[in-house]
Amino acid sequence: MERMLKNLFLYLSKNKTMTRAARKYGLRFGASRFVAGESLEMASAVIADLNRKGLAVTIDYLGEFIEDEQEARQMADQCIEAIRMIGRNDLDSQLSLKLTSMGLDLSERVVMDNMRRILEEAKANHVFVTLDMEDFPRCQPTLDVFKRLKAEYNELGTVIQAYLYRTEKDISELDEFQPNLRLVKGAYKESREVAFADKKDVDENFKKIIKQHVLNGNFTAVATHDDKIIEYTKELVNFHGIAGDCFEFQMLYGIRNEKQLELVEEGYKVRVYVPYGTDWYGYFMRRLAERPANVIFVLKGLFKK
Ligand code: FDA
Repeated sequence: MERMLKNLFLYLSKNKTMTRAARKYGLRFGASRFVAGESLEMASAVIADLNRKGLAVTIDYLGEFIEDEQEARQMADQCIEAIRMIGRNDLDSQLSLKLTSMGLDLSERVVMDNMRRILEEAKANHVFVTLDMEDFPRCQPTLDVFKRLKAEYNELGTVIQAYLYRTEKDISELDEFQPNLRLVKGAYKESREVAFADKKDVDENFKKIIKQHVLNGNFTAVATHDDKIIEYTKELVNFHGIAGDCFEFQMLYGIRNEKQLELVEEGYKVRVYVPYGTDWYGYFMRRLAERPANVIFVLKGLFKK
């Protein structure tokens, strides 16, 4: 049943009609639990509040289904606005973005132009940028863009997904760039040809790559809500005497809020991924797919804006 619901939500997350309708009608169905708001001002207030609680942030302007160069350019403009807002308000926040929304599927020129505009602004405002990892067909193109841009801009990182078989090799190949990597389990529906299907295997591979990247001496963001992985990371860094500024935990906005604060209390660095914008639908469906039990929030949210 759980797997069926997971697949259903992942299928729904790709629905263009629903995405367009959601844009028009605004945050609904309890999505505000996971999305900071539709405007940059709303996101800014949420970030300031999280910062006051000792939590660092990475902000993400939500965007799905970019169809032409102009839309990709507008998405990049929104990222630039977000970077300026972070600088202006002196917030403790980085930026996360998806390369498809910068035109990855359109052309190399479009994606590179948009990324260079963003990274110039990020450099001027001392804001670190992370390239989120999308579905399997975008994995190699994302890593290619990352490698090219990392040679020009230092303040750039990306994401590696533990469910992919190729992951260990990717981390080894990326080592020469001394990358700041966010390690995650992986959120998309992938075939058995490219990804582990069993949660147990994904968790084992997750631990393996955390160890690999931490011991390579590169900055590691362990992005998970899973207590077992968090405990594993704590033991690993303790055992190897890894300094507190070489790693951090990351969690999504609205998920395990108490755990986030508990880790801060214990002295760990915690960064919260804060999405905002009118394109909340696909992101919201992916969160429901991770934990179908959250459907209960949707049912409650049906009657509230
Ligand atoms: P898992 O799903 O096993 O959950 C462990 C426990 O956490 C659950 O038992 C539950 O208690 C709690 N939990 C998990 N999800 C929950 C939810 N939705 N609601 C309430 N509780 C929940 N993926 C990707 O493919 N590309 C990317 O770029 C990113 N980026 C990213 C950034 C950050 C900061 C995070 C935290 C995650 C991502 N992800 C991602 C998503 C990631 O791949 C993964 O799908 C989710 O983090 C869920 O996996 P967990 O590691 O939390 O474990």
